[in-house]
Amino acid sequence: MHQLFDISGKKALVTGGTKGLGWSMAEALLEAGCEVAIVGSSDGVFAAAKDFCGRGFRCHGVKADLRRRQENYRAFDECLQKLNGDLDILVTAAGIQRRHSAEDFPIEEWDEVININLHSVFIFCQQAGRLMLKKGYGKIINVTSMVSWFGGQTVPAYAAAKGGVTQLTKELANDWMGRGINVNAIAPGYMDTDLNTALLANSERSAQILARIPAGRWGKGEDLKGATIFLASAASDYMSGANINVDGGYLVK
Ligand SMILES: NC(=O)c1ccc[n+]([C@@H]2O[C@H](COP(=O)([O-])OP(=O)(O)OC[C@H]3O[C@@H](n4cnc5c(N)ncnc54)[C@H](O)[C@@H]3O)[C@@H](O)[C@H]2O)c1
Repeated sequence: MHQLFDISGKKALVTGGTKGLGWSMAEALLEAGCEVAIVGSSDGVFAAAKDFCGRGFRCHGVKADLRRRQENYRAFDECLQKLNGDLDILVTAAGIQRRHSAEDFPIEEWDEVININLHSVFIFCQQAGRLMLKKGYGKIINVTSMVSWFGGQTVPAYAAAKGGVTQLTKELANDWMGRGINVNAIAPGYMDTDLNTALLANSERSAQILARIPAGRWGKGEDLKGATIFLASAASDYMSGANINVDGGYLVK
């Protein structure tokens, strides 16, 4: 059983690893013995990597603004360089939220959200896939959302992007499953991170959400660790194209 989940010595890249859910997913991989390159938009990525190294893990920080297309390619190459040209696991957790009613949604913010939450995911998957296909092995974990199933409210760009990543995950699964690469997704429920600051500050809306979570609490980054290790390890070798909800039961209430 231990071997089924053993990913020690594997090399991983986590976008959005500076904080929030990506940070916890990176921590899970490091705790499981992986060497991890994390990508973040601020100098916080270097502090996070240094902190992980101080705990005895092998972690590298790469700063990039994933809203800009070329930065995605540069960040991927830099991560690969730091991982000595090899990659086994990709986690695409970087993401942003912008909230306005659809009729008022500024097109600049639409572009910003789609660039990070969708275009960047494709670029990292494509770059990782090209390398993984050469060695016939790879595990890709995309981060989607409950809006893979619901429309959401005041989040048209986010819903469109996450719906896109859900479909992209299935498409990549078809293209690559027979060639050694598993592509799956995790759909977190309502998680207590900076992304939801506005939602948590709205006491009426946050109480409505909490009332619908059978677990009786908002999720935390640590709640994604089990699914991350599962999808990164041999335990999920016969799975591809899945979108696993880790939501405290929200979806089935
Ligand atoms: N929090 C939730 O309830 C929730 C639910 C479902 C899905 N998600 C998804 O989980 C992922 C992580 O979200 P979170 O809640 O941890 O948010 P967060 O705000 O705590 O972290 C976001 C991460 O994305 C990175 N990032 C943001 N803008 C970037 C940019 N321009 N360039 C590079 N990196 C950038 C940041 O460095 C950070 O590490 C996102 O894809 C989000 O859509 C979150």
